[in-house]
Amino acid sequence: MTATTDPVARNEWVACGWLGQIAPGGSHDTMIMGQPIRVRRDDNDGYRVTELEADGVEGRELPVQTRFTCIFTTLGTPTRPLPEIAEFDEPDRKVVGCGNVAVSTSPYRLVENFLDMAHFSFIHVDTLGATDKTEVLAYRTEHRKDVDEIWALDCTFYQPAASKAVEGGQMTRYKYRVMSPFSVMLYKNINAETDRTDAICVFIQPVTQTHCLAYMPMAMVDDKNSAAAIAEFQQSIFLQDRVILENQRPALLPLDPTYELPTRADASSIAFRRWLKAMDIRFGIQEKQAA
Ligand SMILES: [Fe+2]
Repeated sequence: MTATTDPVARNEWVACGWLGQIAPGGSHDTMIMGQPIRVRRDDNDGYRVTELEADGVEGRELPVQTRFTCIFTTLGTPTRPLPEIAEFDEPDRKVVGCGNVAVSTSPYRLVENFLDMAHFSFIHVDTLGATDKTEVLAYRTEHRKDVDEIWALDCTFYQPAASKAVEGGQMTRYKYRVMSPFSVMLYKNINAETDRTDAICVFIQPVTQTHCLAYMPMAMVDDKNSAAAIAEFQQSIFLQDRVILENQRPALLPLDPTYELPTRADASSIAFRRWLKAMDIRFGIQEKQAA
């Protein structure tokens, strides 16, 4: 495996660990986009990230930022900053990190799965979906050019148990936000009496083109459940998705519409693919087959 040369992918911030993963004074070796790296934590909670040469010697130092319970780095020169997610700064929120989950697929399949409401009734039966209420109601998507993000708005879906904090079924209101090719989040309103929404993110560490680690930090409105219980609920949902994701072929994402139409007539998936194509990202993309 060699590091990607794709400048578009290299210039994005990507997650490479979570706060608490490494003991003070310790280090963790991992990989982003085929490039081996070492993440070091000093005794004052400072982090350093370096590339690892073929002989295991530390080489070039990479930029590093810590936010949303995660450690971020980049192989290039980022053209976009880390996103602003104000919910993580609200003092009464329960911020839960959830660690990471390994998934053998491309980063964009992970994003598309996260955006897709149509699978709730089939994959997350009795929690996020019900087998007798499968309809995805119309919603709208937009490309917010000022921040170069894809949003899906006015999403609603019937959910038997929308989160750890609710009992009984309800129509849940969603907003989705694709913040970069490797990060996506949703705002989920599970309480009709307030406009406050849970903020649930997926930051993807693209280890290789077809192997990812997914970090799922959340900033929740929930004074009933422990962080551990919230994390356990989220992980159980995500493990159901992993089975589906790892069986999708090809693992790389085709952007040529004649190769694969998005499996469901899914507006957010179409907007996401159009956006990836326009930015000319190559890493993790299925090249067009010769006729
Ligand atoms: Fe899912």
